[in-house]
Amino acid sequence: MTDIHSHILPGLDDGSDSPERSKEMLAAAARTGVRRLAATSHYSVRCEENYDRVFQETAQMAAACGIELIPGMEYDFDRIGGLDVLSLRTVGGGDFVLVDMKQPYVSDGSVSWMFNAGLNGRRVIVAHPERLWKLGWKECYERLPELGCALQINSGSILGRYGADVMFAAWKLLQQNVYCMVADDAHHEESFCMDEARNALSEFFPKDAVDIWFDYNPEAVVSGRILRATKARLGFAARLRWRLAHGCFVGIAGMESWH
Ligand SMILES: [Fe+2]
Repeated sequence: MTDIHSHILPGLDDGSDSPERSKEMLAAAARTGVRRLAATSHYSVRCEENYDRVFQETAQMAAACGIELIPGMEYDFDRIGGLDVLSLRTVGGGDFVLVDMKQPYVSDGSVSWMFNAGLNGRRVIVAHPERLWKLGWKECYERLPELGCALQINSGSILGRYGADVMFAAWKLLQQNVYCMVADDAHHEESFCMDEARNALSEFFPKDAVDIWFDYNPEAVVSGRILRATKARLGFAARLRWRLAHGCFVGIAGMESWH
C-alpha cells in the first residue's frame, strides 16, 4: 500500500524524535503492508531548512525495510498564507499539497487560496477532516469537494483511536462518499494500522470502494492519475450492524442520527 501521510522524519516535528525511532516506525509500516511512504512533516521554517538532508538519510533506512520513501509536507492552513503556492512541497512530487485546515469552517480566505492554488496547477488534499467534526465543521463534506479538494481520512479515526465522536464522524463521512483515500498520519509505531482499518471497512463496504481508498487513489496521487470517486452507501442492515457493533460509542457521543 501507499501511505501518503506520515511524520517519519526524525527531529523535524512532533513525530519521530530520533533515527532509531524512525527505524522502528519503518519496520512497523512494513509489517502492515506499506511499500511506499510519504514523509509529510509539519511545515516550519526549521523543518524546511533541514528537510532535504533528513529525507535523504531516512530514505536509505526505508529502502532497507523495503519501503520507498517519497517527499511531501503537511501545511497548517493558518501558516500557509505567506508562502508561494509553487514553493510548497507536493506529495511525491505530484500536483497535490497536503493541508490541515485547522479551522472548523470554510472561510472566504480558504476559498480564494484554493482557487489560486488551482490556477497554479496545485490540488489540495485535506488531512483528516473528521477530527474537526466535533468543532461543528459539518460543511466540510459539501464545500471542500466542490472546491476540488481531495479528503483524506486517518486509519486511526476509522478504528476509534481519536475517540468515539471522531470515529462516528469518520464512518458517517465514509458513507457520504466524501473521502478519496486513507492514510496513517503516523507519529509513532502504533499509528501504522492501515491493514487493520482496511479489514474493518471491508466488513461493511464493497471491495471496489475499499480498493479505491487504500490502493487506487493513494497511488494516483503519486503517479498523476485522476482520482476515482466511491459509491459506497451502506444499506439499513449494514448501518444497523455497525450500530450494534459500536452502539456504546454512539450513545456516549450523542451524535445525530445517521442519514
Ligand atoms: Fe499529519
